[in-house]
Amino acid sequence: MRRFGRESDLSAPRFGATRAQAGLAPGARLAYGTAMTQRAHDRLLIIDFGSQVTQLIARRLRELNVYCDIHPFNRVDDAFLDDYAPRAIILSGGPASVTDPASPRAPQKVFELGVPVLGICYGQQVMIEQLGGAVEGGHHREFGRAWVEPTRDHEEDSIFTGLFATGREEVWMSHGDRVTALPPGFEVYGKSQGAPCAIVADPARHFYAVQFHPEVHHTPNGRVLLANFTRLAGFTGDWTMGAYRDEAVAKIREQVGDGKVICGLSGGVDSSVAAVLIHEAIGDQLTCVFVDHGLLRQNESDEVVTMFRDHYNIPLIHADESERFLGALEGVSDPEEKRKIIGGLFIDVFQKHAAEVGGAEFLAQGTLYPDVIESVSAAGGPSVTIKSHHNVGGLPEKMGLKLVEPLRELFKDEVRALGRELGLPAHFIGRHPFPGPGLAIRCPGAITRDKLEILRKADAIFIDQIRRHGLYDDIWQAFVALLPVRTVGVMGDGRSYDYACALRAVTSVDGMTADYYPFTHEFLGETAGRIVGEVEGINRVTYDITSKPPGTIEWE
Ligand code: XMP
Repeated sequence: MRRFGRESDLSAPRFGATRAQAGLAPGARLAYGTAMTQRAHDRLLIIDFGSQVTQLIARRLRELNVYCDIHPFNRVDDAFLDDYAPRAIILSGGPASVTDPASPRAPQKVFELGVPVLGICYGQQVMIEQLGGAVEGGHHREFGRAWVEPTRDHEEDSIFTGLFATGREEVWMSHGDRVTALPPGFEVYGKSQGAPCAIVADPARHFYAVQFHPEVHHTPNGRVLLANFTRLAGFTGDWTMGAYRDEAVAKIREQVGDGKVICGLSGGVDSSVAAVLIHEAIGDQLTCVFVDHGLLRQNESDEVVTMFRDHYNIPLIHADESERFLGALEGVSDPEEKRKIIGGLFIDVFQKHAAEVGGAEFLAQGTLYPDVIESVSAAGGPSVTIKSHHNVGGLPEKMGLKLVEPLRELFKDEVRALGRELGLPAHFIGRHPFPGPGLAIRCPGAITRDKLEILRKADAIFIDQIRRHGLYDDIWQAFVALLPVRTVGVMGDGRSYDYACALRAVTSVDGMTADYYPFTHEFLGETAGRIVGEVEGINRVTYDITSKPPGTIEWE
């Protein structure tokens, strides 16, 4: 079988190309995610047609140490393809129907580049239709679990290697249309009850198209299919964190030169990993600013300061601005108002302290890949704002700074892997996400220092319980919310009239959807007992069992 991708046929410029080779004007920003910076690796292009699960294709490929990018179909044209020079292409699923003349297509050039192409679901139908086959609309809906059976023999070293060992494969389907006639050169390799062309291929040209979604967990061997595809395309699995670290350090040096960089540290994993990486690259040209807004968890401020200043020796401005924040929040109970006050103040305070780092030209941010993927909206139009997120989005323009974003190409778990590679302590890397507005949004109603203190103690006990029971890593995020309500209780022989609190613990993949964590009754009972027993000011504990949606993870 012909394989693609020996070293000799690489057409992309290699990492280390000069600015001129990369088409950059002298002094132009060398951002992460530009064509030049990614050419250290062979690249797979995912053309997104708007499927809910396109990001999962990228996740699975990254797990295979294959570098890939997602680009919306309407941004991929012939010039883009020439410039990107993919080693292989995947066409994602999507909500449209190819039987609708207005539905999206791939540039025909995708099929003329001579690289392997895999079409998934809608991507299958696009490929088949564009190459001269036919797709029928409507009446053959198939959703959820299905079984695909092979319809013909395949070569030993093929995209099917390791599949069909038990005679059939469990897959996840979600389609209304189906392929009914094949383009020249294609054969059917697998069928399901609702999709007679569940797998079709033209192996000579390395065109493969599947009706099901190999990228989702519900297709247990989907990973095998994707691994076979990338192997045949010639990917060597060179996208590792060790390699990433070396390249990122070189890129930061090249971008920053001998300039100064400031980095807003939140104490979260992303900004911490970004800071350590940048420090490795440019040492004391980096200064971190950690703004303590008085809304942090127990010992959080000490932990962050100790790690950065003492353990890593990274220059750090520890700005204790709690008085200012808590003063501004006094009497405020509306959640959006709290968020806006905190966001606005953060920018002011950060700017004030950043000025101490005279002449900084660059601002470092822990932006991740999911933040920069342009999503294709099937319906069009902006989505509703549920919460105004606190971030430093307004800073670069306001301060005239250039951005350094060394994590722009990574998913959250890759950031954690990079953190491990950089030697950050395991307990720090594995920390649950913590929102910018901190405890302010876990203290519904008016915030007071007393309430924050009570909340900190209860939260610390809950997290301690979770750790003691070995559950921390199974949970996406866990915290206590202090409720703005006092309830009557009996303690010893006396009456109590104290606050109620709610425990919140969720499982999630990305924070977009979540489910409550199914603690045992014993765990909940023990935790409630400890909180009421050890925290003065709380006499009642509840467990929040709302999923997201309809709830959100935080209470405000
Ligand atoms: P929600 O409450 O919207 O939270 O379901 C989803 C995830 O986002 C975190 N979150 C924030 N993170 N700034 C942040 O940096 C914010 O303003 C903010 N609000 C919510 C939340 O903790 C959860 O992980």
